[in-house]
Amino acid sequence: MQIIKPLILILLSAILVLHPDSVHAQELLTNVYDQETFSLNGKWQYIMDPYETGFYDYRFKEKGQRDPGAYWNSGVPKDKTAMVEHGYDDQYTINVPGDWNSQDPKFSYYEGTVWYKKSFDYQKKDASNRLFVYFGAVNYQADVYLNGKKLGSHKGGFTPFQFEIDDSILKEKGNYLVVKVDNKRAKDEVPTVNTDWWNYGGITRDVMLVETPQLFVEDYFMHLNTPSSKLQPTTRKAEVSGWVKLNGAKKGEPVTIEIPELKVKKTITFTDSATHFTMILPKVELWSDQNPKRYEIIVSAANDKLHDKIGFRKIEVSGKDILLNGKPVFLRGICLHEEISTELRRANTKKDALTLLGWARELNCNFVRLAHYPHNEHIVRAADSLGIMMWSEIPVYWTIDFGNPEVLAKARLQLREMIARDRNKASVIIWSVGNETPVSPTRTEFMKNLVQSAKQLDATRLISAALEVHYNPELNTIDDPLGAYTDVVSVNEYLGWYTGLPSYCQTAQWKTMYDKPLIISETGAGALAGFHADSLTRWSEEYQEWFYREQIKMMKRMPENYTGITPWILVDFRSPKRNNPVYQNGWNRKGLIGDDGKKKKAFFVLKKYYEEIEKQRR
Ligand code: GCU
Repeated sequence: MQIIKPLILILLSAILVLHPDSVHAQELLTNVYDQETFSLNGKWQYIMDPYETGFYDYRFKEKGQRDPGAYWNSGVPKDKTAMVEHGYDDQYTINVPGDWNSQDPKFSYYEGTVWYKKSFDYQKKDASNRLFVYFGAVNYQADVYLNGKKLGSHKGGFTPFQFEIDDSILKEKGNYLVVKVDNKRAKDEVPTVNTDWWNYGGITRDVMLVETPQLFVEDYFMHLNTPSSKLQPTTRKAEVSGWVKLNGAKKGEPVTIEIPELKVKKTITFTDSATHFTMILPKVELWSDQNPKRYEIIVSAANDKLHDKIGFRKIEVSGKDILLNGKPVFLRGICLHEEISTELRRANTKKDALTLLGWARELNCNFVRLAHYPHNEHIVRAADSLGIMMWSEIPVYWTIDFGNPEVLAKARLQLREMIARDRNKASVIIWSVGNETPVSPTRTEFMKNLVQSAKQLDATRLISAALEVHYNPELNTIDDPLGAYTDVVSVNEYLGWYTGLPSYCQTAQWKTMYDKPLIISETGAGALAGFHADSLTRWSEEYQEWFYREQIKMMKRMPENYTGITPWILVDFRSPKRNNPVYQNGWNRKGLIGDDGKKKKAFFVLKKYYEEIEKQRR
């Protein structure tokens, strides 16, 4: 009986991912930021709709396919006798991209539905082209209509999706795109109702129209295949493998992959799905944190030509080590939420990405953990060019409904979308399938399934998850059963904050059950920036500083598997769970930088530690 239940869980979740009702979004268009697109960013009209009046009648029955856009036009409707109780108007507008919470005081704590409407004109460059509307992310559920026709819906607050626009719907003038966004939390969603971060709602990332030829390059993947033992910072005759997916193509369609700088051009023949290829590059400068070299790549088929910049590197596990291009690397990291705390809003631009990564750079980081959900594409692209390695994670966080196959299907869909978007980004080295999920046989089966899904989707990266520690005054043991399945064992520990005082670290002993690389994926203490007292006074900068000093001393006594650390967290962030009325007031204060952007004393303790590690790097 034991084996049957997990099998049913996996089977059901697989069916649900493929079921038309659960997966409306098509295969993701790849690398849209390097393509020619038509931005729909800017001011959108909105209607706040906490009682779902746009969807249900007063008996709470669905109103059916009313036209949520035309019906609620600005001002007086065409038929002056019409009974109109809702309407869009320019006095109610909101910026896209952007969470709604930060844009108007009435939205500060709002969780519910907001209807967005954007009017635009659009003429296709070529009548035979295809047209898609692409969303960088919408938190949490999006129902999308164009000119009153439903294009589709998507669930998941942190991954991109798009819908194709049929010619029969598009108009050259006066289109109106309506998006119903609902960010209510629910037990059977991913994440669930319980998170230690603010549930920012809205169309939080870029929106654009993407026009493609009838036959276009839908997706591709390129990665370094040369064995680590043969890798040099500049490698001759490097082997690169990959695949290309075309949309609208027949078997036999030629596809060209070009790397102009290396004067390499290879033509392959498309089969009928992902068509694999291998190419030998004469001389490749490998991507690394010390030299983030990328090459312009051109993938073309028929009239379509996609540009990208790809860094060739190899990331592997060998015994207790993580190898970057064949050499052991220590990950000097920090955790990040996707938030600009000084402005109390979601981060969503390239400038925001450079601000956050700039602070990580000042810390001497070569690694960032994007907690606890896939961040916007700007930060991954920026990390690619800066040479900062990344851990990217799906929000399978804490008390997920692990026994529910629909929840597994939702988590697998988000995993697929996260990997689809960033599989060609050299900076992403670890896919994480979750954070601090409470150990139980059902949970471990659920998480093991996600690890296996991640490996099937991308065999070139390391798979991990933030696990929990078995605290014990004599011996802290790392024995989470999920560690048997991940490539890297990562644990969150708060010795000296949630368990004892920082002096507790002085005698703490550690043991890992796994002969695998070990990352301390979280450790941290709270401090109110600018609050100074003796080091025994909690919430003072001095306490946090002492905590980091003791933790760093303890790190020097960790098992030799210890190969990286991402302390919690770079910047204070907004959390509805943090209500100490003097020191928190709705903020999690474990940042090394305050919500005022000022660095706390502990920032410089960690910075110094990383400088020492960098100097020892051979
Ligand atoms: C947990 C969790 C974080 C949380 C942190 C904290 O480890 O992963 O999301 O914010 O602890 O307690 O501050």
